[in-house]
Amino acid sequence: MRTVGSAHADVIVVGAGIVGLGIAWALAESGRSVCVVDPHPAQGATYAAAGMLAAVSELHYQEDDLLRLMLSSAALYPRFIESLPGGAAATGYQTTETLVVGSDSGDRQALADLHTVQQRHGLDVVPLSVREARQREQLLSPQLSCAFVVADDHQVDPRMLAAHLLAELGAMPGGQTSVVRATARGVIHEDEGDLDSRVIGVDLDDGTRLLAQEVIVANGLGAARLAGLPGSLALPLRPVYGDILRLRVPDNLRTLLSATVRGLVRGVPVYLVPRADGTLVIGATSREDSLLGVSAGGMYQLLRDAQALVPAVAELELLETTARARPATPDNAPLLGRVASAQGDMIPGLVVATGFYRHGVLLTPIAADICRRIIEGEDVPDAHCFRPDRFSSPLRKELS
Ligand code: GLY
Repeated sequence: MRTVGSAHADVIVVGAGIVGLGIAWALAESGRSVCVVDPHPAQGATYAAAGMLAAVSELHYQEDDLLRLMLSSAALYPRFIESLPGGAAATGYQTTETLVVGSDSGDRQALADLHTVQQRHGLDVVPLSVREARQREQLLSPQLSCAFVVADDHQVDPRMLAAHLLAELGAMPGGQTSVVRATARGVIHEDEGDLDSRVIGVDLDDGTRLLAQEVIVANGLGAARLAGLPGSLALPLRPVYGDILRLRVPDNLRTLLSATVRGLVRGVPVYLVPRADGTLVIGATSREDSLLGVSAGGMYQLLRDAQALVPAVAELELLETTARARPATPDNAPLLGRVASAQGDMIPGLVVATGFYRHGVLLTPIAADICRRIIEGEDVPDAHCFRPDRFSSPLRKELS
């Protein structure tokens, strides 16, 4: 093995999706040297993501811990964006509101039930008449069954944010940060024969070794394929594909929408996210099939349902269709934190931050904050329920 001495860093972050980049940024801001490793930065789920910061409108039943995490992260977003040179203008962060609408009577019932749960959590969701909703967004269909407004669910442009983070990390003076375009094959242990011993770096696929005090595994679905993770650690990640469309709004239809519109159309979710540059993002299906590319049925469904909510969608120019896999976990919550050895001690030098499923963009600031606090030696009780080894046998036994 070749050891690259100059690449020794305080922290190695494996994975340059939005979560890995956000963590790297927070750690660099705290004065650490950081090396990010990814063969194709920001080309995974980040590349497809619509960027809704929808803690309130993406609430799902019985995901209370996740809701708490999402709300905390949404609250951190303004500070996270301000920490970046260029701020909102450089990242597409917008504090516009979200309208939630239903199409038929079943959708009205489903959204009313959700509203009851949102109220129980004290969330700010205000029912509107369809007329009031159309006063806010004139191109909404008159055929809606119900509408709500969520003032606190905003948006960011994940491609802009990721590109900006990459550029800023690349531009930091004195080589404090670096981005290595390579695949991490596995983590290296202090005692190479003991997978429960301290983690001291990563092996790259070209045989290079990078060394660091801390390794943060943030490469989405790729985390489960990384060699050298503790033997007892099961990372139950599975791909859930989303198809997404990008369209251009012609000048005569601008402004098509000001707010993000999330809808249920005969029970099927769809969302429309207007960007400041005059484009519109429509998503997103959830497929657990083995189709890696864009699904014809998914595209049909998205266009059909988006048009049911905003008929003028039919007049837009289709620019792009994309499909990517989200890294999902059995309880839809991330795998975040340190990992226990078979003896029950935390393995030093290793933090896992993956499994962000539908919420990677929203959860980036809180993931970054929690990772920083963990490597500074802080206990973060609020994050215990997201421990990455909660599905692995020793912890499972402890929790049962
Ligand atoms: N958070 C939106 C999606 O995963 O489709």
